[in-house]
Order: sequence, then structure tokens, then C-alpha cells
Amino acid sequence: MRHPISRRRFLKSSAAIAAGSTLPAWFLEQSRGHAATTKPLSPNDKPNIALIGCGGQGRYDTTLAAQFANVAAVCDVDSKHLEDASKQFGGAKAYKDFRKVLERDDIHAIINGTPDHWHTLINIASMKAGKDVYSEKPLTLTIDEGKRLVEVARETQRILQTGSQQRSDSRFRLACELVRNRRLGQLKHVITSLPAGPRGGPFSPVPVPTELDWDFWQGQTPVVPYVRERCHGSFRYWWDYSGGTMTDWGAHHNDIALWGLGLERSGPVTIQGKPLVGMIPGGFTASSEYRVEYSYANGVTHTCQSNSGNGPDGSVRGTPKPGEIPHGVRFEGTSGWIFVTRGKIEASNPAFLTEPLAANATRLYASNNHMGNFFDCVRSRKQPVCDVEIGHRSVTLCHLGVISIRLGRKRNWDPAKEQFVKDSAADKWLAREQRKPWTYNLS
Ligand SMILES: NC(=O)c1ccc[n+]([C@@H]2O[C@H](COP(=O)([O-])OP(=O)(O)OC[C@H]3O[C@@H](n4cnc5c(N)ncnc54)[C@H](O)[C@@H]3O)[C@@H](O)[C@H]2O)c1
Repeated sequence: MRHPISRRRFLKSSAAIAAGSTLPAWFLEQSRGHAATTKPLSPNDKPNIALIGCGGQGRYDTTLAAQFANVAAVCDVDSKHLEDASKQFGGAKAYKDFRKVLERDDIHAIINGTPDHWHTLINIASMKAGKDVYSEKPLTLTIDEGKRLVEVARETQRILQTGSQQRSDSRFRLACELVRNRRLGQLKHVITSLPAGPRGGPFSPVPVPTELDWDFWQGQTPVVPYVRERCHGSFRYWWDYSGGTMTDWGAHHNDIALWGLGLERSGPVTIQGKPLVGMIPGGFTASSEYRVEYSYANGVTHTCQSNSGNGPDGSVRGTPKPGEIPHGVRFEGTSGWIFVTRGKIEASNPAFLTEPLAANATRLYASNNHMGNFFDCVRSRKQPVCDVEIGHRSVTLCHLGVISIRLGRKRNWDPAKEQFVKDSAADKWLAREQRKPWTYNLS
């Protein structure tokens, strides 16, 4: 079906989205005054925050947070990272143990930049200690962790923003609003394309660097000899600590898929996944290339697949294999498709983007500044754009993909009960055993 639009209006607005990199003028106009506008605050008016996990992302987040908050403490189990962060944030008091940070009454919120296997323990302890939380994605290590986290946020009435910042990127919101308002006719299929992971190895144990407490870093996960590639930065390519790019990038693009589907507090009903390559014994364990098929109760199907044309950080490293597409989210309906990724939105028919939505169209939560939105909500006590349940449900979709890749056959899922349908073998994968003394009841 061709979308009705006058030629004059089409030419005027299509100029504004040349190359798909600029947002259409009508969307910018309609978004004005619609999005929260967070302004930097004076020092006396700022809450005190602590950064827990001072690696690359935690420090980046805290640089953004410093516009809205005083950085009062930094915490890391690697003394070198800790020292660097303390210097970077004006001599903020340095801690090795996050439990000591949480004892401080003058800290109002924390930024959690630890690896995935630490997110939930620290987030639960922080909320129980009365702190609001900006937590990096993927929000959890298991589905069971997410259920616990949602409950604690409810009980403690704390604000938790998940660091899936594409929710505060207007291009992704535009795509989801168009899809929700049936710009593509009936939505039929969604493709989330995620960068392929590395397939390195085998790796050998080496002495633990003197600055690192390897036992503390491992936390609830099984004790293994120190291997450099298991630790800083590349922990995400090991099942023990994360889910590979399926959770690393899935926490971004699968999050957008659920937003467009209008199922951000629900999930799929079937999942079937498989690895596309074998991993090297003694090397990274998380599947580097994979394909997962989901279906939803409304009949929409969803393929989540790796793209070997993108490196793990999202950069272009080659030509996609047949059937692969560059990383991003593609919505397909009876009238055509929309593809959205970082810095780009495209459609099978340019008019899908340039024709304004009606005044009474469904509009989605508008945030143009992910960190600013968190601090707005810390003040207003309203829910942020990627609240705890959304963060949990988005990564649940990814965890289901991982479970299915690892188990092989098709699984049925009950998104209301958050368990597999009559499948106790698969239900065992909802949680993991925790190494003592680490539990979810630390405070
Ligand atoms: N939102 C995004 O776009 C984005 C981008 C990159 C990373 N991330 C996420 O940020 C998180 C951190 O990633 P990274 O690349 O910065 O990792 P990293 O390995 O560079 O940093 C993690 C830091 O946490 C520290 N740490 C580990 N256990 C700790 C504990 N118990 N207490 C205190 N510190 C501890 C480590 O020593 C390290 O300094 C990951 O969950 C990742 O998925 C998000």
C-alpha cells in the first residue's frame, strides 16, 4: 500500500532526512517541549553519587553524571582503576569494598559500571541501602536475578535507570512510534542484528596482576585460574560472566524491538536458537555467531542474529555474509520496512519517515538525555525511560536466546509467569548457583 502524501510536502520533508542521518523536521517540532530537559545543577543543589566499577564505561557514565551530581566516592577491586578514577573525579574518596560505600548516608545514588555478574548483587544492596541506581546494561546475569531486582525496586521505592541509552536516542523512538502507529501496516517480523563476538583462544593462565583482587572480581561465579582475557573488558565473551554479544548488544537492539512491539513489559512465547560456529576449546565460551527465532502471542515473529560484518564493538570489519544485515533493528510490516541503528534511520518508502504522525497518535516516553532523565527522576520520583522492569524484560529476551542457543531445541515461554511451559529442564537455567559468601541478601 502506498502511503498518502502530497509531492510538495514530501520534497520539503525528505530534504530534511537526506542520507537518513537527520531526523525529520515534523518529529523535531513535535518533540519540542515533549521531552524532559535536564539542566546542569549548581553544586549545592546536586545529589552525591558513587561510582562502583571504574572501568571504561563506568568512568564514561560518571563524566556524564558529574553534570548533575557531586562524585563523592569511587570503588573498584582493581587498585589501579580505582586510583585513576579518584584522580579523574576530583580526589573522590576511594573504596575497594562496595559495602563500605553503601554505609555512607550522604551518598544518594550509585552508578554501577561493574561487569554483568556483579550488577544485581550491587544493585539490590544499593537499593536496600536507600540509594537510587544508574546501572549499566545488560541489567542482569540471569532471569531470576531480574525478578528479584524488580521486586526489591518495588519494595524500596528506588529509582533504577538501565544503561540502555538507545531509549534516549530520538531515532529509535521515532522508529518505534511509527511502528506502533501502524506506519508499516500490520507489523509482521522484526530483525535484530547484533555484532558478532570474538572467537579467540586458547588462552593460558598467567599470574594475577598485583593491583587486582581476582577472588573479589569473580564474586558469585566459579573460581578459575586468572586468565587476562576473562577479566577487564573481554569478560563479556564468557558464559560465566555474561552472554556474549547476545546480551551485550541485545540489551540495546532487543530492547528497541520490544519497545516497537509494545511488549516491553512482556516477552516472547517461543524461542529457538542455535550457534552458527563452534568455539575454540580453552578460548572465549559465549557463541560468537548465532541465530535465534522468537514468536510473540500477537503473531509477530522475530529473528535475532549475529552479523559477522560488524566487530564486537559495532565497528564495520567486513562484508556481511549472505542473509546478514548491518547491526541495528529492522521492522517489517505489510506496507514495507524501517531500519534503525545508531546515527541512521531508513525506510523502504521515504514517506514513512517524512509524513507527520497525527496529533492524536500514540507517543512514547520521550527522553533526549539518558543520564539527565535519571537525575530528573531522582528528583521527581517518576519512573525513568528504561526503568527496572524494562531493563529486566529486555535482557530476559537475550537470556532466553542464550539458553536456547545452549540447549538447542525449541522452547515455549510464559511471559506472564516468567517461566518455561512445562519444561523443568529449561527452568533450571533461569538461575545460577552462587559461590559463597555471595548472595542477594548482602545488607
Ligand atoms: N551502555 C553502553 O553502551 C555500554 C558500553 C560499554 C559497556 N557497558 C557495560 O558497562 C559494564 C562495564 O563494562 P566495561 O567495558 O567498562 O568493563 P571493564 O572491565 O572495563 O570495567 C569493569 C570494572 O569493574 C570493576 N569491578 C569488578 N568487580 C567489582 C566489584 N565487585 N566492585 C567494584 N568494582 C568491580 C573491575 O575491576 C573494572 O575496573 C558492562 O556491564 C558493560 O556491558 C555499557
